[in-house]
Amino acid sequence: MLLRIFLASLVSVAATNGQQEPGTPTTNGLPSPSSSSSSSSSSSSSSSSSSPSPSPSPSSSPPPLLLVSFDGFRADYLQRYHMPNLELLYRGGVLVEELTNVFTTKTFPNHYSLVTGLYAESHGMMASKMYDAETNKTFSLMDDKDPFWWNEAEPLWVRALDSNYSTAAAMWPGSDVAIRNRTATHFLPYNSSVTFAERLGNISAWLKGSEQDGGVIFAALYWEEPDRSGHMFGPDNTTAMAKALKEVDDNVGLLVSELRRAGLWGHINVVVTSDHGMTQCSAQRLIRLDDCLDPHNYTLVDLAPVTALIPTQDPEKVFSLLDKCHPHMTAYQKKALPERLHYRNNRRVQPIILIADEGWLIIQQGDKLPTLGNHGYDNTLPSMHAFLAASGPGFRQGYRTAGMKSVDVYPLMCHLLGVPPAPNNGSLAQARCILSGEGCVDVALVAGVVVGVLLLLTAVTCLFGLMKPRRARGPVPFQRLQLEEEDDDDDEPLLG
Ligand SMILES: *[C@@H]1O[C@H](CO)[C@@H](O)[C@H](O)[C@H]1NC(C)=O
Ligand SMILES: *[C@@H]1O[C@H](CO)[C@@H](O)[C@H](O)[C@H]1NC(C)=O
Ligand SMILES: *[C@@H]1O[C@H](CO)[C@@H](O)[C@H](O)[C@H]1NC(C)=O
Ligand SMILES: *[C@@H]1O[C@H](CO)[C@@H](O)[C@H](O)[C@H]1NC(C)=O
Ligand SMILES: *[C@@H]1O[C@H](CO)[C@@H](O)[C@H](O)[C@H]1NC(C)=O
Ligand SMILES: *[C@@H]1O[C@H](CO)[C@@H](O)[C@H](O)[C@H]1NC(C)=O
Ligand SMILES: *[C@@H]1O[C@H](CO)[C@@H](O)[C@H](O)[C@H]1NC(C)=O
Ligand SMILES: *[C@@H]1O[C@H](CO)[C@@H](O)[C@H](O)[C@H]1NC(C)=O
Ligand SMILES: [Zn+2]
Repeated sequence: MLLRIFLASLVSVAATNGQQEPGTPTTNGLPSPSSSSSSSSSSSSSSSSSSPSPSPSPSSSPPPLLLVSFDGFRADYLQRYHMPNLELLYRGGVLVEELTNVFTTKTFPNHYSLVTGLYAESHGMMASKMYDAETNKTFSLMDDKDPFWWNEAEPLWVRALDSNYSTAAAMWPGSDVAIRNRTATHFLPYNSSVTFAERLGNISAWLKGSEQDGGVIFAALYWEEPDRSGHMFGPDNTTAMAKALKEVDDNVGLLVSELRRAGLWGHINVVVTSDHGMTQCSAQRLIRLDDCLDPHNYTLVDLAPVTALIPTQDPEKVFSLLDKCHPHMTAYQKKALPERLHYRNNRRVQPIILIADEGWLIIQQGDKLPTLGNHGYDNTLPSMHAFLAASGPGFRQGYRTAGMKSVDVYPLMCHLLGVPPAPNNGSLAQARCILSGEGCVDVALVAGVVVGVLLLLTAVTCLFGLMKPRRARGPVPFQRLQLEEEDDDDDEPLLG
């Protein structure tokens, strides 16, 4: 019994560890954008704080949630570049420094994972280019509207409709597709020429709602940078990336000032995140398939940095040629893909998958470097990881944590919205740590403490055994040590 109390107190120490950060802003320290292209609206903070809390949804509803993605925002950009607006946002909220994403570390797979909580093999959006042999259909970023590719899962903006909420999606991949026959209540068709400010204007209006109909409970907003610059200039070009990230940060400033102007800031939950990182490529790091194999021997589905192909004849021979093709490329037959990639159990995975090492690109022939920066590589690489920052009534203030998984974002959002999550691959266990008013357990620390205590107990037990060798064998005192109460803690059942 005493032991249990001892363990329990250790666990609670572990759970509160890291909550306190000296010098972080308090409740009244709402961020105000320090620089942005819309300086005219930055003076409205006093009016919004005196106005009553807007309730765009019925009073019983939780606060609305806005999910924003800045495509290709590599985790370490936060350390390498000065982004005052983003910093203000997470200083008043939370920062997850590194968000581990899903394989392939491409835009569509990861945006779909964020809003479904599923690995690519389970939501079916496997890559930027796909082929389905049964239907003879192909998918590409230019031709992405067929619901067939999306229907294996249901994004949160569709799921929340079942709770009788209205939702919005502004150019998030899949926004303009009738997934399982439904779109969000409001959406913008994809058009890369529409500015961030324009997209934001629509999102803000939808969140606010009108006299007749309440605002949306969930909105998703997508922006193409810093991905575009990362591909074009390479992430190692600090001049180009500083400029791109300054623009991204200005957009964060614009976001906060627009939400403030609409009287939403501080009343809604805002999550700012990304789909993947970026790594530097080079003309010195090209892998040419034509050097290893006649192009007539396979049909190419997707190319770089993860190649998907279908052998046209003699699959074993084709595989063995590719297997020894290049030291910086690993060839897998579908059935041998590592479990940890969660990239096997779907008919959209082609018979042979080639994965390039970080910074290497697979091409068919020639010496032309397709892009100076790319992503798509193994999702254990830190350069492929994104970040997450959040602020609002549901989040802690001034809290920082080292990592989380991107599949955990979906159960987190469902929890904040009170929407029952569909079966998924995420968990609230880790995500709970960034929520306000939630106890959370630092799994690694608790595991360490438990192991340490058990080792100590074993040592003590052995010592006792040595000291009293003749004593009759009774029950070993600590054999029954179990954490039975795990079962009745107040965690919600986690699906998947
Ligand atoms: C598959 O589609 C392609 C064009 O998308 C077409 O050329 C080909 O004939 C089709 N194959 C079958 C078996 O229908
Ligand atoms: C949604 O609204 C419909 C019709 O008003 C009602 O039958 C249903 O129970 C509601 N669902 C939820 C989850 O509130
Ligand atoms: C979509 O609606 C059509 C008819 O409107 C129906 O035939 C089809 O089964 C629906 N598809 C899904 C995925 O619900
Ligand atoms: C995309 O947006 C631009 C700028 O708003 C507009 O001029 C153009 O017509 C739009 N394209 C389509 C296809 O809607
Ligand atoms: C988005 O906002 C613009 C400018 O206010 C407006 O003209 C347009 O109709 C809005 N789009 C949608 C789909 O509501
Ligand atoms: C970096 O990008 C800038 C454009 O912002 C370009 O002018 C410059 O040549 C690039 N530097 C390198 C080393 O590629
Ligand atoms: C590859 O294609 C060439 C030309 O079509 C053919 O001669 C050769 O046998 C094929 N090799 C394999 C391994 O299929
Ligand atoms: C991911 O979740 C889906 C849906 O619950 C499930 O079918 C699949 O087995 C899960 N994948 C893993 C690796 O647990
Ligand atoms: Zn992307």
